[in-house]
Amino acid sequence: MDKLIIEGGVRLKGEVTISGAKNAVLPILAATLLTDDACIIKGVPDLRDTNTMLKILKSLGKNVEFDNGVAIISQAKNTSHIADYKLVSTMRASFCVLGPLLGKLKKAKVSLPGGCIIGVRPVDLHIKGLRALNAEINIESGYVVATASKLKGAEVYLGGVYGSSVLATDNVMMAACLAQGKTIIESAACEPEVFDLAEFLIKMGAKIKGHGTPTIEIEGVKQLHGAQHKIIPDRIEAGTFILASLLTGGDITIKNIFPRHLGAMIDKLQEAGVDIKSTDNTMRVALKGKLKPVNISTLPYPGFPTDMQAQIMSLMAITPGISVITEKIYPDRFMHVAELNRMGAHIQREGPYAIVSGVKELSGAPVMASDLRASASLVLAGLVAGGKTSISRIYHLERGYEFMEDKLRVLGAKIWREKE
Ligand code: EPZ
Repeated sequence: MDKLIIEGGVRLKGEVTISGAKNAVLPILAATLLTDDACIIKGVPDLRDTNTMLKILKSLGKNVEFDNGVAIISQAKNTSHIADYKLVSTMRASFCVLGPLLGKLKKAKVSLPGGCIIGVRPVDLHIKGLRALNAEINIESGYVVATASKLKGAEVYLGGVYGSSVLATDNVMMAACLAQGKTIIESAACEPEVFDLAEFLIKMGAKIKGHGTPTIEIEGVKQLHGAQHKIIPDRIEAGTFILASLLTGGDITIKNIFPRHLGAMIDKLQEAGVDIKSTDNTMRVALKGKLKPVNISTLPYPGFPTDMQAQIMSLMAITPGISVITEKIYPDRFMHVAELNRMGAHIQREGPYAIVSGVKELSGAPVMASDLRASASLVLAGLVAGGKTSISRIYHLERGYEFMEDKLRVLGAKIWREKE
């Protein structure tokens, strides 16, 4: 396994181009299971998670070509309805093959994804939604086994105790495309990645309205055809680079981003005193004067994204004053706290709250990545810490950031890889 070494203290300057969104490309690749026709997906980031999803599609009978950001998915043999444990257990998001398999084949057997380090990750809302479409669903030896003589459109409320569910909305929306009649999903997730999936499904011939709002209407059709689509930019990668610019006191221009996808974060940063200049698809971020501490609560979109919580904690760790970060989506998503404290941060966790008392500076140290966004927060901390930081288990980072160290190096960062 590799580790990343970072020598902190360099002000990052220049331009960075954002890759396609991991959390859009995963369900969109799964959606190709809804047709036997070929689909061409552009702007596909070369990530561990993308390659895992491509392996799953191959295991389900698809022919997969992936080169230079373009994935061509076509039919190799009859689609299998079984997504096995070996692959699904390595990436939770693979659970989103359930809806398209059920929609296309009227049967599916998908391994329960299990939890991960940020939380239990239940799938009750997925099951509730698919049962509402007349599917019979049982849990057998760690698998969700779903069958339906025919799927029937229905009204279903998909709000859970933590609000809407992104992948449950995706699964139900994909199955509903091939159900008989109209489906209305109430308390649907509004994330831009759900919107992008719906746009792809519409290009395949689906009849969908209201995507991007809490009420999505799907009129079932007989079948879907192939389509071409370009993935939206990754708002979380963009947010991570924005914070890299602020943490290092640099001046970075972010290209290929829709600023409106980062509304909540931009609002918080402006409250903290940051000057952000945006056009339709670029953002320029530089620190003018001192940062002020801010209180943040993560919420479903358009609220502050939980996937940016660990990263903004690194910025608050060196912002004088007290910031309170409340994690309302995954109350246990604080694995990065202990590692940041090892770098000299003063962060106290109290249940779903992290009380961050800003310090003058962080110091480089050996730290361990635990999950995708925690590893990003450690990279950010390493960029500003005095001395060397070595981050082990960086396969977590490779799951969701395309060429991150190369992009940082181009901006002037002193960052390289070593064998563990
Ligand atoms: C998606 O996960 C993202 N992953 C996550 O990004 C992101 O953190 C999450 O949405 C929230 O924005 C992908 O899109 C591949 P949820 P998802 O269902 O859909 C609870 C990253 O770092 N819940 O929206 O699995 C759940 O426990 C990853 O890129 C239920 O209670 O998340 C959580 O508290 C991490 N029952 C809340 O809802 C269910 O059936 C939101 O989860 C499903 C979810």
